[in-house]
Amino acid sequence: MNGLTRVPGLLYGGDYNPEQWPEDVWADDVRLMKEAGVNLVTVGVFSWARLQPGPDAFDFGWLDRLLDLLDAHGIAADLATATASPPAWLVRAHPETLPVTADGVRLEFGSRQHYCPSSPVYRAAAARLARRIAERYRDHPAVVLWHVHNEYGDHVAECFCAESAADFRGWLRERYGDLAALNRAWATESWSQRYGRWDEIEPPRTAPGPLNPTQSLDWRRFCSAALLACYLAEKAVLDEAGGGIPVTTNFMSMFKPLDYWAWAAREDVVSDDAYPDPADPAAHVGAAMAYDLMRSLKGGRPWLLMEQAPSAVSWRPVNVPKPPALSRLWSLQAVARGADGVLHFQWRASRAGAEKFHSALLPHRGTGSPQWARTVALGRDLARLAEVAGARLAADVAVVLDWDSWWALELDEHPSSRLRLKELVLSWYGAAHARNVAVDFVRPGADLGRYRLVLLPNLYLASDATAAWLTSYVAGGGRLVCGFFSGVVDEHDHVHPGGGLAPLRDALGVVVDEYWPVPDGASVDVAFGSRVVPATLWSELLEARAAEPAAVYGGGPLAGRPAVTRNAHGAGRAWYVGCHLGERVGLVLEEAFADAGVRPVLDVPAGVEATRRDGPGASYLFLLNHRADEAEAPVPDGVDLLSGAAVRGALRLAPLGAAVLRTARHDHPER
Ligand code: GAL
Repeated sequence: MNGLTRVPGLLYGGDYNPEQWPEDVWADDVRLMKEAGVNLVTVGVFSWARLQPGPDAFDFGWLDRLLDLLDAHGIAADLATATASPPAWLVRAHPETLPVTADGVRLEFGSRQHYCPSSPVYRAAAARLARRIAERYRDHPAVVLWHVHNEYGDHVAECFCAESAADFRGWLRERYGDLAALNRAWATESWSQRYGRWDEIEPPRTAPGPLNPTQSLDWRRFCSAALLACYLAEKAVLDEAGGGIPVTTNFMSMFKPLDYWAWAAREDVVSDDAYPDPADPAAHVGAAMAYDLMRSLKGGRPWLLMEQAPSAVSWRPVNVPKPPALSRLWSLQAVARGADGVLHFQWRASRAGAEKFHSALLPHRGTGSPQWARTVALGRDLARLAEVAGARLAADVAVVLDWDSWWALELDEHPSSRLRLKELVLSWYGAAHARNVAVDFVRPGADLGRYRLVLLPNLYLASDATAAWLTSYVAGGGRLVCGFFSGVVDEHDHVHPGGGLAPLRDALGVVVDEYWPVPDGASVDVAFGSRVVPATLWSELLEARAAEPAAVYGGGPLAGRPAVTRNAHGAGRAWYVGCHLGERVGLVLEEAFADAGVRPVLDVPAGVEATRRDGPGASYLFLLNHRADEAEAPVPDGVDLLSGAAVRGALRLAPLGAAVLRTARHDHPER
């Protein structure tokens, strides 16, 4: 049994859009699904217009026949509520349901995801359809998972129409209670922005100059909450009428518009859509980061890769396919990082429509194609890994990720407009990934008891409570590495009294005097003893108080001043990295890993990714060779589940090759 649904083993399949095909093709589909080992398909994602052709007309006959057919062949369904693309009749009857941009342009029908999240008409229509589907299919034996909507926030993550404005005001009233509190939080004494009545407040539409930052920050919070309210309206229907079948909605990896901590808390199963670019040689690092986040969103529970491309996508300017070995390697990578299933967009390639050049498990050429051979081979690989389902990963390192801070960091009028949280986190994550150090993501306030080390690539917005949480972790013996431009503002985006880093000064023993962003194309030398590395993007004038320098600037206006510091606080230790080192932040992390007793999962050659999932009776070591040449790794004795071969002491991996070793169960040392 996997940790997600009642289907045993790992899940394999993809989005299936049978409404694009005559029914006589369906029999062929299910036969081929069986041949490929597919055990789960996602059905109905964009079927609203077909299921409800008019306001009071419903047509479920085709879906009845389809689900029966799937069930007769032992294929389970992840059944969508079909609410991501409202039908033309609804849009024409209620044009106010179409979303409006910050410039006041109402977006037209003719693509998908064309709805205003705050529209009561849209929300009611979506809940009504979800109820009809839930009541009709909750007892259908094929249905094992409810799939709410699709990729909330995709294409349209915010709407600036009058209904959204009213919803925003309601949200602000809840948050602030009275207007005086809002005026204080928004610092409306600046630029004569004081509000005398609630109905004077509008969303942050396009304006002559920089917008009020707290208004913009609250807008981001509101937009995530407005979409969450759409999800929760459907979730409530499914909880009541859905027969106890677990509920998911598919995420989009590390996606700025939605606070996935808040979202995942309201899901039964976390699922993700991931489309790493085969043209990017480092794409697997970003994918690993997304997968670790997905696993972390529900405290380590297995998650589902809901969508990936079997080969090329169709929406990039240039859509490069995946070589066969890469496609297999990347599928196994998701399982290596905690996925209990690998699904795709899509099962059968469309012959028409916007996605006709998107790869599919069953391509236009059919079963005579190399893609079909891969589809069958991946099904076999995943079947061989069935016993991995449910096994957990353990990490000693936590990376703090907070959407509030992400939104606030990327507002306007900062010392540099170049800072992007995802890039900052990726550079730190990449340094840990390159050393095969397992990490989890945590949100502020999380229980840090099981972590030896906490990484904070950036936390521009840190409330006093968050600062106290980090400080007491260090005082109690924890290790912390904190990145630049952190602890700068409170939850209202007001600079902390005393300036940047003030609430973290005790833990870090350092004071920031001035920000010195590095101009585009320039760099500044940073010396770790005799090792000199360049910093780009950012530097800071630091005054080390209790802290000692771990690296100093080797030139430029800050020459000789500390660039990285180390501080003993209570029973722990904390580093501050006052500049952007990219992945060279690994120099600091290595020191912190050693100090904290953090070890890699396995000592393997560079370019080989190693993870371990622990099951009740065995552990599973995943070894993924991302290199273009062979690699040899020293490993414990075990059996490679993919090849069936017994392995003793060492393992040779082909270029882009992979192995999954079943070994004796790994015991976690007590701390
Ligand atoms: C996803 C979407 C799918 C499909 C896919 C193509 O964002 O959920 O419906 O469009 O992209 O890569």
